[in-house]
Formats: sequence, structure tokens, C-alpha cells
Amino acid sequence: MAPNGDHPPTDFRHVFKIPTKGDLRRKTLQKSADLHSRPDDDETCVYLCGNSLGLQPTLTRQYLDQYLDTWATKGVFGHFTHINDSSLAPWMHVDDDLVEDMATIVGAKPSEVAVMQTLTVNLHLLMASFYKPTKERYKVILEGKAFPSDHYMVESQIQHHGLDPALSMILIEPPTDSGVLPTDHILSVIDRHADTTAVLLLPGVQFYTGQFLDMPRITTYAQDQGILVGWDLAHAVGNVPLQLSDWNVDFAAWCTYKYLNAGPGSIGGLYVNEKHFHRPRLAGWWGSSKSSRFDMTNRFEPIPSAAGFQLSNPSVADSTALRASLDIFKQTSMKALRAKSLELTGRLEVLLKQSEAKHLFSIITPGSKAERGAQLSIRLQPGLLDSVLVRLEEEGVVIDERKPDVIRVAPAPLYNNVEDVKAFVHVFGAACLEAAKTGKPDGKSAASIDGNAKGWSEIK
Ligand SMILES: Cc1ncc(COP(=O)(O)O)c(C=O)c1O
Repeated sequence: MAPNGDHPPTDFRHVFKIPTKGDLRRKTLQKSADLHSRPDDDETCVYLCGNSLGLQPTLTRQYLDQYLDTWATKGVFGHFTHINDSSLAPWMHVDDDLVEDMATIVGAKPSEVAVMQTLTVNLHLLMASFYKPTKERYKVILEGKAFPSDHYMVESQIQHHGLDPALSMILIEPPTDSGVLPTDHILSVIDRHADTTAVLLLPGVQFYTGQFLDMPRITTYAQDQGILVGWDLAHAVGNVPLQLSDWNVDFAAWCTYKYLNAGPGSIGGLYVNEKHFHRPRLAGWWGSSKSSRFDMTNRFEPIPSAAGFQLSNPSVADSTALRASLDIFKQTSMKALRAKSLELTGRLEVLLKQSEAKHLFSIITPGSKAERGAQLSIRLQPGLLDSVLVRLEEEGVVIDERKPDVIRVAPAPLYNNVEDVKAFVHVFGAACLEAAKTGKPDGKSAASIDGNAKGWSEIK
């Protein structure tokens, strides 16, 4: 619960590790003790890449130390022992301990949320429950420009059922170059395949354009035609306000390493609407009743909630990192963060539109605040991207790119501020002008977790 319900704090910059420009250049790790001997002029970088990998909360190391100390001093008893001077739950309960705070962020009943596995795995598990093709209804509708993992996931699910993706996979292609999917366009594709579609799977916030889709309208529209509706919330969770229970979504899944700051590849989450708790599933022991879990009876007794969709005992290291991040979210609210986010991203948009270099790029993210989250995607004039990326990197400005010509810039309201936004626009504008003048693209690039781009380790 936020300490002051009406105006909870939203500035948590001081509880995040923001790399310095020197950190980004160094090829070695510096011990924390050395941080005090940093040169004064080693300023923090301008980090606007929380859409790809959120920054590390300072609590993370403290909690991970507690976890490691528990393991070191208790061994297997760490599963069951309450430790008085640790904030962490016994490992047996780490998943339950996260569910309520996670549910608050996605606007769901705690019983409808499970913290488990990773995003693509969870989508597969959910499809195993929800995608039951029949002779009449066998299609899956998704976007043509879906994140590749979602595309592969759906394609392989269809193949797994012995069906042909060419006939069963319906791709919604954006009608214009911007990549944005107008709601009416989505609804028209649903109409065309209404009688033959089993599942619709869409992103809450689209990874490339940053578009925030009209989730309640699309959900209701498709469900009215007998279609089950699932959402990939990778770029939506912790970014935009969600009300999964009120919107009556059928299922959803997300990762926790973007706006939720739980670290690369950390544990994921899923939502199962309570009306689906009985669905068949791929089962594992962690989804079976806690009271009989250790009886070894081989009788699967699914927990009557989303927790019943769990398979394995969760990674405690990952869950601990997520605990640290959720302890920050607990001090604020998505409503307050959204208000700050709209302000920061709105400011970014205004400054970009006023930039001297504005003729050298365009913003492809929708202009309407209701249709976007924190991220703006900016398309550069052909040939400018590589040299702009080099300049941003030299100046310690961290964003990510989508070849051939788009960069994604996301002020994360927990730790970014207006100074970050101004610094970005200043460096970016100058870099565009310089690139246009010299016309000499260079080969280096910034980093991103999700596809296409060069690895984080390549940042010099
Ligand atoms: C929209 C979207 N879907 C799926 C994934 C894949 O996530 P994971 O590697 O955690 O399965 C990502 C990763 O960035 C993503 O952005």
C-alpha cells in the first residue's frame, strides 16, 4: 500500500543503480567499494532503455545477499525456516509472497496471477490450455509484426496440433508504414475470421511502435464472437495501467526484466481468468495442492487458482530479485506512475518536435496519450541511424535500435526525470544534424534484449 494513497511518491531514482558513463566504457567490473573513488566528472549515463532492460534496484543486492546467506547457513532448511533478520519468505512460499503485489500491478485478483517460468514458456503453457482447435475453430489471430518469439510460439503450437500455419495463423498487418494498428483495423480482421478463430493473441503495448492497444474493447469484441483472448504484456506491465480482471481478459503473460526491473531473464508472470481455473493443462508438481505436494502420491490436485498452472519450483534467486523491485512498486501506485510517465513522455515528444533536427526524423508512436506508454519510437531518415548510434554511445546515452532506421526511447517513471529527457533530445538532435552533414554512417550500435540488435556486452 502506498504511504499516501492520493499522492504516493514517484521519484525512486535514488534507489536504483544508474551506470556512469565510465561504467559503460569499462570492460571490467569495479567492486562497489571502488565506487567511492570514482572521478567526480564520471557522471551517470542517460538511461532510457527500461523498455528493454530495467535498471537494478539497490535493494536487489541486499536481498540476494540475504538469500545467499540463508542458503549458506540453512541449506535445505531454507525452504521452511522463517529468518528473523531477512525480509524474504521461506523458499517454499517465495511464489505466493510475490503474487499479491504482482496482481496489483496488472489489476487482477491475486488468485488469478502466478509468478513462474519465463514469458515464451508461459505463453506456450497457456496456449496448451487455451488453444484447443476444432474442425470449426482452429485459427489463431496475431499481429504480422509480432515479436518473433510470439510468432514462433504460435506457429509451433499450430504445427503441434498437426495443422498448417499457412491456413491457421492469421496475421494482422499494419495498414500503413508506421506499423501502428488502428483498433478498427484489428476488429475488421477479427470479423473476417470470427467463425473459424479459436484464439486472439495481441500485445498490450507493441514492442516496436510503443502503441498501447485498446485492450478492453478488443477483448470484448473478440469474446462476443466466441474467441478466447490472450495478451502478451511484456511491454505493458509496470508501464501502463492494466485492469485484467475488470476487462475480463482470458489469459495473459509477461516478463519482469523491463519496466519491472527484476534483472535479465528473470522469472515471468501469468494471468488466468478465474472462469478458466478448471481448464486442462500441462501439469507439474508445483501446481499441485501445497498440503499434499510432498506426499508423493502421483495424484495431481491442481491448486484452484492460477497457481495451479505452475510446474516447477520457482528460481529463488529470480524471485528474490523480483521481490526487491516489487518492494519499490509497493510504495507508489500505477496511477501515480502513469501520471508521471505521461508527463515525461509528453515532454520528450514536445522537445523532439521543437528540435532543430526535427526534419530528420519522425515519431511513429501514436500521438494520443491514451494509445502509448512510456516509449516513443523514432524513425530516422535513411542512412543516419548508424552514426547517430555511435554519437549517442559516445555521449553515454542509452537507448535501443530496431534496424534499419528506428530507435526506441523510454523514460521509465520510477527512475528517469526531465533532465534525462532534455539531455537525450540535446544529444540526439546534434547527432542527427551531424550525421546528415557528414553522411558517413558508421557501423556500431546500441543494445537491446529483444532481438535484432547487438548484445549489451558490446557496449563499450
Ligand atoms: C513482446 C515480447 N514477447 C516475448 C518476448 C520474449 O521474452 P522471453 O525471452 O522472456 O521469453 C519479448 C522479449 O523481449 C518481448 O518483448
